Amino acid sequence: MNDAASPTIPSADRVVSPRSRTEDAHLERSLRPRRLAEYIGQERVKASLSIFIEAAMARGEPLDHVLLYGPPGLGKTTLAAIIAAEMGVSLRITSGPAIERQGDLVSILTNLKPGDVLFIDEIHRLNRVVEEVLYSAMEDFAVDIVLGKGPAARTMRINLPKFTLVGATTRLALLTGPLRDRFGAVLRLDFYDLPSMEEIVARSADVLAVPISPEGASAVASRSRGTPRVANRLLKRVRDYAEVRGEGTITPELAADALSMLDVDALGLDDVDRRILRAIVDKFDGGPVGIDTLAAATSEESDTIMDVYEPYLIQLGFLQRTPRGRVATRGAYHHLGGPLPAIEPAQRTLFDAAK
Ligand code: ADE
Repeated sequence: MNDAASPTIPSADRVVSPRSRTEDAHLERSLRPRRLAEYIGQERVKASLSIFIEAAMARGEPLDHVLLYGPPGLGKTTLAAIIAAEMGVSLRITSGPAIERQGDLVSILTNLKPGDVLFIDEIHRLNRVVEEVLYSAMEDFAVDIVLGKGPAARTMRINLPKFTLVGATTRLALLTGPLRDRFGAVLRLDFYDLPSMEEIVARSADVLAVPISPEGASAVASRSRGTPRVANRLLKRVRDYAEVRGEGTITPELAADALSMLDVDALGLDDVDRRILRAIVDKFDGGPVGIDTLAAATSEESDTIMDVYEPYLIQLGFLQRTPRGRVATRGAYHHLGGPLPAIEPAQRTLFDAAK
């Protein structure tokens, strides 16, 4: 297909976007597991959390602060809600960009009840002045506020209830050292494996009362980029298709038809993913190409490429990050169906260095 002829879909509107969209809010609320025992996959994270929770409960103390990181759509908010439910406390949800001033954070903190969980999504986007308030809040459960201005200014310490901060980020490297060091546990969420995704699709279909065969669940799961948010969204679209074009039950053929109509291929890649790979292959000879150049060539933002597209392309082994830029692998060439390069692009950096 000619790239220039294909319309550019704003990335947030893609059916396979792992970023949360307004239409997901209601769906996610109804499908979200409420307790750790219902949560499928992420076994390492679940094992760590259940030990922390049990130990904190046995000591009668709030849970230590927890940082969750990993690509979007994998269940960071869900886990924060589960932590609160398991501890029997309330959850307060906010995000880094939503807290603009120190006063906003102080007001949230002073309104918490003992033991409550405060969830800050995109915590790497907190501004530095606000972040400083968080240091003493996390460490000493107190904040120092400045009253007045100039020589007459005084500081006043306000004690806070002991609370648990659950921070979430897609970009661990952007967190400052002092903030990161104040978390008692730092847990990484990975893309879900296929058996977990199949289980999640089957569970969601059950909750939504959508008839689906195990093979149908597998067909949806394998196009969901290891991301439950994407799986739930695709399930909804395939259900509509099955009701109109089929007999209501989701079969693998129906799922494949519905998803190819949405331009989602057998690996869950869509037009934007293919545009990124195509740009590296066709415009930059397989790479390496710097992220900003790649962003300009695809009309996407560098941050969006890094947070949203790249993690899954890397997971598939189609793209590599090298010190000199992004490189398309042989797998990407195969997937795009073009001729293979004469020199493995990943080797090119070594080749160039040796010249
Ligand atoms: N729905 C979304 N994520 C889920 C998970 N990890 N387990 C069960 N259901 C889910």
